[in-house]
Amino acid sequence: MSSLISKIQACQLQFLEESQVSSSEEARQALQKKYLKQILKELYADLKNVIDPAEKKTAGGLINQFRQELELAFSSDTAVSKVRQSEVFCDPTAIKMQFVRGHIHPLIHFTQKMEEVFINMGFSIVYGPEIEKEENNFEKLNIPLHHPARDMQDTFYIKGSDKLLRSHTSSVQIRTMENAKPPLKIISVGNVYRVDDIDAQHTPMFYQTEGLVVDKGIRFSDLKGVLIQFIKTVFGENIQVRFRPSYYPYTEPSAAVDMSCPICATQGCRTCKQAGWITILGAGMVHPNVFLSVGYDPKEVSGFAFGLGVNRLAMIYYQMAEIRGFYENDISLWASV
Ligand code: DAH
Repeated sequence: MSSLISKIQACQLQFLEESQVSSSEEARQALQKKYLKQILKELYADLKNVIDPAEKKTAGGLINQFRQELELAFSSDTAVSKVRQSEVFCDPTAIKMQFVRGHIHPLIHFTQKMEEVFINMGFSIVYGPEIEKEENNFEKLNIPLHHPARDMQDTFYIKGSDKLLRSHTSSVQIRTMENAKPPLKIISVGNVYRVDDIDAQHTPMFYQTEGLVVDKGIRFSDLKGVLIQFIKTVFGENIQVRFRPSYYPYTEPSAAVDMSCPICATQGCRTCKQAGWITILGAGMVHPNVFLSVGYDPKEVSGFAFGLGVNRLAMIYYQMAEIRGFYENDISLWASV
């Protein structure tokens, strides 16, 4: 430690000792003169001779801090100052901690980014409960009890009730349509649950985003326009988007949506498992049976819906290999976010 820093600390200690024994007003005034006039002056003069900039900075900070302590201890209200004198506490062994500013969790950061893109396209944000009625999660979405799609979305049931932990955010489509009339243009982000063992790509709880647009004359080309705009805004103009036929009970026709791998631009790499393309979304035109289940007339209105796994998309965005990284408390992973 530099000699000036140890000198400052010695002065602080000495002041503590002396202020405790000086009880009379005269002694106090003498002390005030000694420290606020002589000693501080001396310390500032010593500071001028320090050459090393880092040392100068530390010593300067310590002297300023000492001056503030002294000013507080000798402030004009004597009654208060007596109490303060004994309160001035100096621990010369204390280490000044660097304050590390935290930041928002990457999943939330990514979610906000996505929401912003949809808000700019005129979408509203809605929320739905994670403990959901079975019929909103399945039946009203045209997934009857016997349907094999239920196996793929096996979830956690609340014993003795008609409720479950929603297996997808598609249940929010039902709630939104039951509570409002078209036109609708919403997205909903939230946790969903599946009976999945934890591994590098799976956790029993993860985030999804659901989208729903209903109005007169909505077409598949509207769906394509919105999704292409979304993907390009988040991942860049050069990303290509591909729609492949797929199947979901609640949309007809249905599509799986792929984007060209943002890491290798279709050349094949670890992120896209050498495929060049990554499937990121399910989407389609809302099935007439879904409209009927919420009291809409499928001859009057049409609409499109889509659902995407937020964790998966965020993993591509942040180039993470492990979904578990989102839930382990290793903040060093996020230094670059
Ligand atoms: N619910 C689907 C899932 O969890 C995703 C999905 C596909 C949502 C198609 C939709 C849709 O709204 O139209 O895998």
